Amino acid sequence: MKLNRRTLNIALASATLSSLLPATAFAQKKPVLGFAQVGAESEWRTANTESIKSAAKEAGIELKFSDAQQKQENQIKAIRSYIAQKVDVIAFSPVVESGWDTVLLEAKAAKIPVVLTDRSVNTKDDSLYVTFMGSDFVEEGRKAGRWLVEKEKGNAGPINIVELQGTVGSAPAIDRKKGFEEIIKADPKFKIIRSQTGDFTRAKGKEVMEAFLKAEGKKINVLYAHNDDMAIGAIQAIEEAGMKPAQDIIIISIDAVKGAFEAMMAGKLNVSVECSPLLGPQLMAAVADIKAGKPLPKRILTKEGIFPMEVAKAEFPNRKY
Ligand code: AHR
Repeated sequence: MKLNRRTLNIALASATLSSLLPATAFAQKKPVLGFAQVGAESEWRTANTESIKSAAKEAGIELKFSDAQQKQENQIKAIRSYIAQKVDVIAFSPVVESGWDTVLLEAKAAKIPVVLTDRSVNTKDDSLYVTFMGSDFVEEGRKAGRWLVEKEKGNAGPINIVELQGTVGSAPAIDRKKGFEEIIKADPKFKIIRSQTGDFTRAKGKEVMEAFLKAEGKKINVLYAHNDDMAIGAIQAIEEAGMKPAQDIIIISIDAVKGAFEAMMAGKLNVSVECSPLLGPQLMAAVADIKAGKPLPKRILTKEGIFPMEVAKAEFPNRKY
């Protein structure tokens, strides 16, 4: 082959460059995922974060992670910084349902695909995200309601319920309330006598339950908590008030984290509806599919069960979070 002076110079320049750079610089670039997490408000959330971090490592995906401390403005800031950094994919679990259109339009304009994990957004434009993966929160509320209806069969009532709601405006708080009410409203003996947010945390769950007990005392028959952490906080309040949790007051909660299993095995919690936080592997598979240009279903649903206290001991060794 005949080389002229110009091609020879180019060949020499690139040979010098390749001998200076490490071999990995020429390997395929790792996909970069920017993930804006809600916070660290519950045992569930800690397991979710761990699942995302370990799955990213395993899949060889570079993860940029931020914790919004349960504040929407912090999540929006994080998403904007991922846009500025030109990551390949943005994923987030929206702390509340509404108020996302502007920042999602910015991501769309920058041609960065967005994946919603765990919680969805309230938008008319579903082209603003590629897919939403996570639980059916309305169904979780229904499962909790059905369990109670079955348990109280034959009891003429009235059955007074207090409800600890999740974060105000969040998808799980809205949907779990809706699903539960949809089931219990079929029988007027069930009455929600108090309902207030405990923000998905143990401390708030305890504080609000103390207030419920002060106001309603022995009238309370059932506690429905939108997550296990709030139920565990409330159990403490019930014990401090000299009552027996799961006996004097029936306790129903959602998540099925290890802490709930421990409470069930100790006879202090009646039932927990499963909500799986182990979304990491699914999310990394979605990132790989997006990078490969493969289409994804708009909704990826998590399969879940329900665990009454009677099965807690046998199930506990199988629990992963
Ligand atoms: O969005 C999932 C909910 O958020 C979990 O049920 C709760 O524990 C968490 O904080």
